[in-house]
Amino acid sequence: MLMGQDFDTSAVHAGREDFLELGVHAAPLDFSSTYPIPDLEEGTASLDALAHGAADAPQKIYSRLNQPTVSRFEGALAKLEGAEHAVAYASGMAALTAVLLALRVRHPEDARPHVLALRPIYGGSDHLLDHGMTGCEVEWVSAEEVARKTRPETRLVIAETPANPTLKWIDLEKLAADAQGAPVMVDSTFATPVLQTPIAHGATLVLHSATKFLGGHGDVLAGIVATSDEEWAAALRHVRVITGACMHPMAAYLCLRSMPTLPLRVRRATETATELAEFLGQQPAISAVHYPKADHPLLGKQMLGRGSLISFELAGGYDAASALMKAVRLCTPAVSLGSTDTLIQHPAGLTHHVVPEEERIATGITAGMIRLSVGLESTDDLRRDLAQALAVAATAAPMQANLTKAGTPIAETNPAAQS
Ligand SMILES: Cc1ncc(COP(=O)(O)O)c(C=O)c1O
Repeated sequence: MLMGQDFDTSAVHAGREDFLELGVHAAPLDFSSTYPIPDLEEGTASLDALAHGAADAPQKIYSRLNQPTVSRFEGALAKLEGAEHAVAYASGMAALTAVLLALRVRHPEDARPHVLALRPIYGGSDHLLDHGMTGCEVEWVSAEEVARKTRPETRLVIAETPANPTLKWIDLEKLAADAQGAPVMVDSTFATPVLQTPIAHGATLVLHSATKFLGGHGDVLAGIVATSDEEWAAALRHVRVITGACMHPMAAYLCLRSMPTLPLRVRRATETATELAEFLGQQPAISAVHYPKADHPLLGKQMLGRGSLISFELAGGYDAASALMKAVRLCTPAVSLGSTDTLIQHPAGLTHHVVPEEERIATGITAGMIRLSVGLESTDDLRRDLAQALAVAATAAPMQANLTKAGTPIAETNPAAQS
C-alpha cells in the first residue's frame, strides 16, 4: 500500500500504478504463450533466471515462466496483504501443492519434510495433505498441540482461519509463537485481506483460493500465495515453472477487475450474514449456529469483521439437510463461496466428503451441517427463502433421526447457540 493510503483506496488502485504511463484505463491483457527472442544470449540468461524462480527478467520467454497480466495481479494482491511478493497458480489446490513442493526445493536434505497441519481445513486440502503424494510427513494436530508437536526439523505449520466449515478462528500470533520459528502458512480464503492480513500477525505465507472472494463472481478458478520472504517466493515460482500449474491471464484479469469491489462485497455480505445468523439461531429446526460471536477476543485485532460464512446444524440431521438443499429457491445449492449470489452446501456430503468420516465427526462436521456463503441479495429475500426451505426440511425429516443414510451416528445436537 502507498504510505498513508487506506485499504479501500489500495483495492481500487493496486495494479494500476503504470496506467497513466501506458495510456490505458483497464489492465492490459496479454494472451501470448511465447515471446520473440531476437537476442539469444539475453534469452538464455533470462530463461536461466526465470526457470530458477526470478520474478522478472529483461527478456520474456514463455508464459509458463512469467506472464505480465498474472504478475500485475500478483503485485496488487501482495499490496493488499502487506506482503512483498505473491505467486499465482491455476487453483487454490495448485497453490497448496506448490507450497508443499517448495519444501522439497528449500530442504533437499529432508527425506520427508515434517509438516504440522490443523483440522478442520478445506476437504480438498485435507485430502492432499493426508494422501502423502507430495512426499511430506504430515502430522495432524489441534491448535493446542502445536507447541508440543513442533520439532526442530518442522518445516511448516498449516492452518486455515476462519476454518472451513466450522468457522473457528485461530489466534495467529499464538500459533506463530507456538511454531517456535517454523514458518506458518495460513489459508485466509474465508477472510480475504479485507478482514485479515496474516503476515502482520506472524504468518510467513498466506494462501487464497482466488476462485472465491478474489474472483468474486463464480467465473474464475485460481489460487495465490503471498509472502514477504524472498527465498520462499523464489521457491514458489520455481515450483510453478516446473509443474506448470499457472494462472491463466484471463483469470488474472478477472481478479484484477474484481479487486476494487472486494471491500464493498465483503462488508455488505458480512452485514447480511450477521442478520441471518441471528435469524437462523431462532429457528426450531436448527440445533446450532456457528458464526463468530460479536465479542470474540480476536475481533477488531486479527479479524476486522465476522465474515459472510455461516454454518448451522439441522436437528433433523442428514435427511433435513438433504431436503433443505432441494427446497431452496433463491440460494444456489452449490459448493464454493464468496460469490455475488448466496451458495448453500452440505460439507459432509460435498466439500469435506473426502475427509475420513471419523475425522469429520471429531472436528464437528456433522451429517446435519449446512454451510451458507452469504451473497449480495437483500437480507429479506434470503430470510424468506431460508424460512420456506427450513419449513420444507422440517416436515421432510423425522426429528428423532440419529443415523445418517450411511449409518454414521450424528454428533450430539448442541443447544442453538452461536459459537
Ligand atoms: C478455504 C479453501 N482453501 C482452498 C480451496 C481450494 O481452492 P480451489 O478450489 O481454487 O482449488 C478451497 C476450495 O473450496 C477452499 O474453500
